[in-house]
This record gives sequence, structure tokens and C-alpha cells, in this order.
Amino acid sequence: MAQRIAIFGAGYIGLVTAACFAELGHTVAVRDIDSDKIAALQAGRIPIFEPGLAELIARNAGRLSFTVDADDAAADAQVVFVCVDTPPTASGDADLSRVWSVVDSMKGAAHLSAFVVKSTVPVGTGARIRAVLDTAGLRHVGYAANPEFTAEGRAVQDFMHPDRVVIGTDDHATAELLAAVHDGIDGPVMAMDVRSAEAVKLMANALLATKISFANEAAAICEATGADVNLVMDAVGADARLGRGFLNAGIGWGGSCFPKDTIGLKALAVNGGYHPQLLSAVIEVNELTRRRAVIRLKEELGTLDGKTVAVLGMTFKPGTDDMRESPATVIVDRLLTEGATVRSWDPMAQPQTTPPWSSTTRCASPLDALTGSDAAMLVTEWPELRDVDWPEAAAAMAAPVLFDGRNLLEPGAMADAGFTYLSVGRATVRG
Ligand code: UDX
Repeated sequence: MAQRIAIFGAGYIGLVTAACFAELGHTVAVRDIDSDKIAALQAGRIPIFEPGLAELIARNAGRLSFTVDADDAAADAQVVFVCVDTPPTASGDADLSRVWSVVDSMKGAAHLSAFVVKSTVPVGTGARIRAVLDTAGLRHVGYAANPEFTAEGRAVQDFMHPDRVVIGTDDHATAELLAAVHDGIDGPVMAMDVRSAEAVKLMANALLATKISFANEAAAICEATGADVNLVMDAVGADARLGRGFLNAGIGWGGSCFPKDTIGLKALAVNGGYHPQLLSAVIEVNELTRRRAVIRLKEELGTLDGKTVAVLGMTFKPGTDDMRESPATVIVDRLLTEGATVRSWDPMAQPQTTPPWSSTTRCASPLDALTGSDAAMLVTEWPELRDVDWPEAAAAMAAPVLFDGRNLLEPGAMADAGFTYLSVGRATVRG
């Protein structure tokens, strides 16, 4: 049955959730404190890039509204979804201030049926929110944790066809209501208690991050022993118990989730008196992987001081304009510190005005960035980089040396193009 829903937070998750619920037939009010963002949305402009999102919002415009007023958003709602961000604090704990300000704005919302947190929060947060709602006279309002597992660039697809929908609640009526809200979504509902649902999100991201760090450590061992990490991971991942996904070696993970959630889970464990050794190593391998990329280029060139390096890709992965925690930022910072000049290219990243990017030159095309450079680092696997005329690029560079941080290109073809081609967990080839 169609519900009236209020979504708090118009970021990636909030907007995708709102658009998909509207597509399912619900009426959705979206509230954000950023008045510019709300004004843009009211004018039909979508402030983020996410494939399919603009079309979904346009198609369901009649069921979607946008406001900065919390009372307005909640006035009619039966179910509130909290989709605000929870960035790490200085100590690595999750900053819940935005979640608490939504909870505070519910004090007069006695008409609500359910209050649902989609934001990633530490295990135990639901119990604290429950207590505050009870004290505010909202004991009758159901509480649920409903973590999201959508990846940027495919968030709409992930939302509509998920591997699972996790609904964590301690009361049966709220579980049924939330299952009904998700009616029409093509994926199984897994119902559980609030704490377990809160833990699922953190554990899932930690295990995905573990697979990536494993692949990156495997790559270093392959480099030392002469094996090819791509071939090894293809065969390792062919075992159905392991799976090939998230075993791509590269320059490490970034983005809005893995860095924050691995640090958050570690903080949660340590605060509870447990030292998470495996998780700590997973985080450390990720940090080393980025630095090792620059070390390998430095070893190849002898020095980076005075060299011009083309950095191809800026975002944390292709298909998004998101620069949050991008490994490219660490790599550029290291290159500059080593004395290199950086010419960068990215098809989608917004202009960057803060360090280290403010000390780089942004180029209009890969060839533009490569022309005259002493070396190049491919850090985001944008598909258009496959289509670069690499022989032409080799001729245009001062020295044709390329470190492929994503194993996007073929070693044989790059050697034929005239490159000294370094990649991750594979032998260096020289043209
Ligand atoms: C991730 C999770 O996939 C998603 O379920 C969760 O809700 C949010 O975090 P996202 O951050 O959008 O999604 O990106 P994802 O596609 O998972 O990639 C994360 C990072 O890992 C990227 O920097 C990517 O380049 C890197 N990665 C991924 C690898 O280095 N190797 C891989 O094999 C896979």
C-alpha cells in the first residue's frame, strides 16, 4: 500500500531512496538543511550524478517534494527515513550530530508510524534513539534500522534489485510495515533485531574491504615472485566459495563508505575493549598500497624531483564525480611532496580548489595531460582510457613511462606502443 514517506538528507543515499520509493508509488517529501541544494531540486536540477536518478526523479515528480523545513517534511509522513551522513570524528567514531538533530525534530510527530535509520551508525545507536523517542512521548512510534548496500554509479539498480533488504526492528508491526514499504523491490527481505541490522552494514563493508586488501597484498607477493595477479585472482575467484568480486588489485579503495566504515568498525571494537587485528591490517594494507604506487614509479625514474607526471583519473572509481577519500588525492600529494609537477585529467570530477589539487594543472584530455610528461599514473579506470591512441601518446611524452594502478591496459599492447609499462602484481614490460 502506498505510504507517505519523509526522507531526511538529500545526499546520494537520500535522493536515490526518495526517487526509488516514489517509483514504487509512495509519496515522498525530502528535507535537507542545504537551501541551495533544495532550491536546485525544486527547480528540477539534480545536484549529484548518479545514472538513472534524474530520469527517475523527473518521472515521479508528482509524488516528490523538497523542503528545508523539517516540520513540513514530517507533517504528513507515516514513515521517516534518516539518510544523513555520519562522517568520522577526530577519534574515528561516527559523528551522529546530524542523526540526533533529525531525532530532535521529531518531538511533535506523534502521528508517525515508524522512524527508520538508513544512515550507517555504530551498533547500539538504535537503542539510544529508542530511549530518546520514548522519553519524548513517542513510545508508539516503531523504530527500525534499514542499512543500505548501494554502490555509487549503480545505486538505482542496487536499490530496485538488491541482494537483500535488511530490516532490523524489535517489534513485529514495524517489520510488517517496512516490508510493505519495500513491496515491489526485487530482493529478499531479511528481518532481524536492530543491533544485528546495524552490524550487517559495517561487517559487509569490512569484508569487501578485506577482499580488496587481500588482492593488493597478493599483488605485492606476485610482483616479488613473478606471478600475474590477474590470472591468479581469476582462478582463485572461480571457486564459488570465494567469488571473483572485489579481488581486483589496484591502488586501494576510497569513497564515502569503505574508509569511514572500516575506521568506524575499528573504533567500535576498540571502544568495546577488543583489538581488531585483521581489520587493522586491512586498513594498513590499503594505506601502503597507495604509497607503494608512488614508490614504484620513483624507483623506475630514479627520482620524481623535477619530473612532470600525468595523473589520469581523479575520482575514487569511474562512473562517479565523487572525490571523497579518492586514492588519487594521496598519490598526488605524495608526487608533489617528492618534487614532481602534476598534470591531471578526469572526465567527471568537479574542479578542485583545495590542496593538493590546487597545485596541479587540470587538462582537457588524457593526451593533453600526457603531452610533454616524463611519466603517467593511471589511477581511475575510466573506460575512455582504453581508447587513448597510446602510440601517439608515447610519441608526445618526454619519456613514455606509465604506471597502470588499475591494470586497465594490456602489457603487450603497451610495450608495442613504446611504453615502459608498470602495473599492479604483473611483470613490468618495456617497449
Ligand atoms: C561501497 C559498497 O560496494 C556498497 O555496498 C556500500 O553501500 C558503500 O560502499 P562504493 O563506495 O560506491 O560502494 O564503491 P565500490 O564500487 O564498492 O568501490 C569502492 C572502492 O574499492 C573503490 O575505490 C574501488 O576502486 C575499490 N575497489 C573495488 C578495488 O580496488 N578493487 C575491487 O576489486 C573493487
